[in-house]
Amino acid sequence: MNTDQFLVKSNLKFIDTVSFTSQTPSNIALVKYWGKSNPQIPKNASISFTLNNCHTITTVDFIKKEKSDEVFFNLCFEGEQKEEFKPKIAEFFKRIQAYCPYILDYKMMINTENSFPHSSGIASSASGLSAIAMCLVSLEKKLNSDLSKEFINKKASFLARLGSGSASRSIEGPLVVWGKHPEIEGSSDLYGIQFPYKVHPFFENYQDVILLVDKGEKQVSSTIGHNLMHRHPYAENRFLQANENLSKMSKILQEGNSKDFIALVESEALTLHAMMLTSNPYFILMKPNTLEIINKIWEYRAENNSKICFTLDAGANVHVLFPENEKENILEFIENELSKYCQKNHYIWDTAGFGAKML
Ligand code: DP6
Repeated sequence: MNTDQFLVKSNLKFIDTVSFTSQTPSNIALVKYWGKSNPQIPKNASISFTLNNCHTITTVDFIKKEKSDEVFFNLCFEGEQKEEFKPKIAEFFKRIQAYCPYILDYKMMINTENSFPHSSGIASSASGLSAIAMCLVSLEKKLNSDLSKEFINKKASFLARLGSGSASRSIEGPLVVWGKHPEIEGSSDLYGIQFPYKVHPFFENYQDVILLVDKGEKQVSSTIGHNLMHRHPYAENRFLQANENLSKMSKILQEGNSKDFIALVESEALTLHAMMLTSNPYFILMKPNTLEIINKIWEYRAENNSKICFTLDAGANVHVLFPENEKENILEFIENELSKYCQKNHYIWDTAGFGAKML
């Protein structure tokens, strides 16, 4: 694997103090990443819709200092120092140091906030780590102006992946593939790429309403979760199936077959949970209300000949996916019939978006 391309090869022209602010979204996988090997290499390829409203805004102030052996940074989350978030970020900096040696030349004051409530069960690692990655590559561009936009995005995704796998899929949009796959040209285990084929108009501006069934801390951290796939009896078949599902999904996205889309997306969600139900130790991550919602979605779909479907992350919240032309009716259905299964009736409306931006 060619990671050399991400090393800094030219001389950098250091400057004293500079700040960058990025806004990067969360994403929702249609074919799931679950299982990885070192260093953050996925066991199968995955694809996701990049979101829009659920995002992180991060400012990094880079203050020039003497070069040191250790990374120096400070982290404020929504205006407060957050010591508990620091180890994950410190680990991230350690992993990327070889590719961003300039982080040893600066103090980094990181200020970050999410558009979604902190304890909402929405994974913030994808948007959070991709936001820091965007600020780092922006600094690199400033210190070495020869870098192309294409390279900057690729490197941002490469760095973000080393912080959190799914973060590699938050730089571009609206559909991103991460993981090498023979039928997806240009795909790589090292970074996410925009889905490279023409997508059927049916999927344009696709809608995702996130029903917050359980706002608590994640019951299974992603590190523990991915590790459960190491000695899992069904792991090898699952990785094969996921890659086959990505082939199918690629065709569906190009041809616009909504029936196949629904079947594949829901099956992927349930398979992800099936992996956790059958691991050692085992976990049930759905809550009773998750199932209530799924059944209601199925009823609504049958009664209204709708294209509504659901997907799940590694938790109890439900992502309700549907095409834009059903927006009005489905938002009404969610408000009237589904919001009562959410904690404090709370849900978040989102749409597929275009990835990271610098503010
Ligand atoms: C269930 O990206 O959170 O959301 O690489 O350990 O940070 P790490 O894992 P993470 O895993 C996300 C898994 C998932 C499915 C997906 O987004 O593909």
